[in-house]
Amino acid sequence: MDSKLKPLGLAAIPLLLALLNLQNLANAVPQVPCYFIFGDSLSDNGNNNKLVTTVKVNYPPYGIDFPQGPTGRFNNGRTLHDFIVKFLGFEDYMPPFAESEGKNILSGVNYASGASGIRDETGQHRGGRIPLNEQIKNHQTIISKITTSMGNDSAAKSHLSRCIYSVQIGSNDYINNYFRPDLYNTSQTYTPQEYATVLVRQLSDQLKILYDSGARKFAVYGLGLIGCTPDARSVHGTGTPCVDKFNEGSIPFNERLKPLIDQLNHNLTDAKFTFLVPSGNTTGLVSYSSCCQTGGHNGELCLPDSKPCDNRKQYVFWDGVHPTDTWNEIVAKAIYDSEKPEEAQPFNIQKLAQL
Ligand SMILES: *[C@@H]1O[C@H](CO)[C@@H](O)[C@H](O)[C@H]1NC(C)=O
Ligand SMILES: *[C@@H]1O[C@H](CO)[C@@H](O)[C@H](O)[C@H]1NC(C)=O
Ligand SMILES: *[C@@H]1O[C@H](CO)[C@@H](O)[C@H](O)[C@H]1NC(C)=O
Ligand SMILES: *[C@@H]1O[C@H](CO)[C@@H](O)[C@H](O)[C@H]1NC(C)=O
Repeated sequence: MDSKLKPLGLAAIPLLLALLNLQNLANAVPQVPCYFIFGDSLSDNGNNNKLVTTVKVNYPPYGIDFPQGPTGRFNNGRTLHDFIVKFLGFEDYMPPFAESEGKNILSGVNYASGASGIRDETGQHRGGRIPLNEQIKNHQTIISKITTSMGNDSAAKSHLSRCIYSVQIGSNDYINNYFRPDLYNTSQTYTPQEYATVLVRQLSDQLKILYDSGARKFAVYGLGLIGCTPDARSVHGTGTPCVDKFNEGSIPFNERLKPLIDQLNHNLTDAKFTFLVPSGNTTGLVSYSSCCQTGGHNGELCLPDSKPCDNRKQYVFWDGVHPTDTWNEIVAKAIYDSEKPEEAQPFNIQKLAQL
């Protein structure tokens, strides 16, 4: 063997493996045939762009690390669900419902809308948004189209029963409702405990509508610590790392959502529900301030055309409330194959896909 070729040959192996790997990805059959996304700005990938609202981000520096630039995703790069669909083996991200015309809807659609909540009135002071009830109606439109395109009812039903339905919503029912007593009366009507009960009961009804529409695999998310965002700290902070009052709102919500998931698994025996908590290890990351410059009348969002931080991979928060691409990847990895019950219970996403 020519010794001069040897180093080159060895060096080529990783490249070859990488090419083979890409080849595999390109031809991969995803672990589930479809993935539908319901939620708020943590999941929105463009549905708010054409609405009259202050909660849309189709301008730089949003999308600075995303190949297509600003798309309406509320961070510098990919959302949590962008990562999960790639882990599941999908080639493309799910199209936003608002731009689903002519797109491949058989693999799934993203209905999520910034500022939206479980309750219809949530976020109304910010302008147009698509509340969860309306997202569920939009899903009916997509189901009709899928049924038409598949040619028959039972084929569509079988297809829809194998999809994952991701539901990550509720933060705005606190931030853009309960904790704005100047604009909403929920905090005069309910104690934090009662409010969590009311929200989770309504979410339960909404999940059952999806079940009645053929959904059988549900990934339902608890809330993160909404009192620990840079925005919460700057607007309501008292010098402590988190605003306790805000976290005291979200904790009862999670405490009620977890047993609801158990009940739904028990009652709807042909369906699988799992409870996911979007958390991660912040050690080594900047977790107390936002990477971009926030301010103006939109407070928590990046100022248009402002220059963000250079070391974006070291930040938890991109703007005042939304996590970075880096953080989304950490969390997505955790809930995709976590064996920790405090992150995913009773199944991680990978198991949910296989059931
Ligand atoms: C629907 O399609 C499936 C497979 O594509 C086929 O087996 C079934 O007979 C069809 N049913 C009707 C009512 O056309
Ligand atoms: C609270 O506000 C809603 C509208 O957002 C209204 O329908 C309801 O009557 C109000 N309730 C009270 C007790 O003021
Ligand atoms: C589950 O079924 C029990 C018994 O019928 C019922 O009391 C409970 O409300 C149901 N829970 C849900 C979330 O449907
Ligand atoms: C977080 O990560 C750091 C370093 O990567 C590690 O030392 C620490 O034990 C982790 N903490 C938890 C709670 O996993």
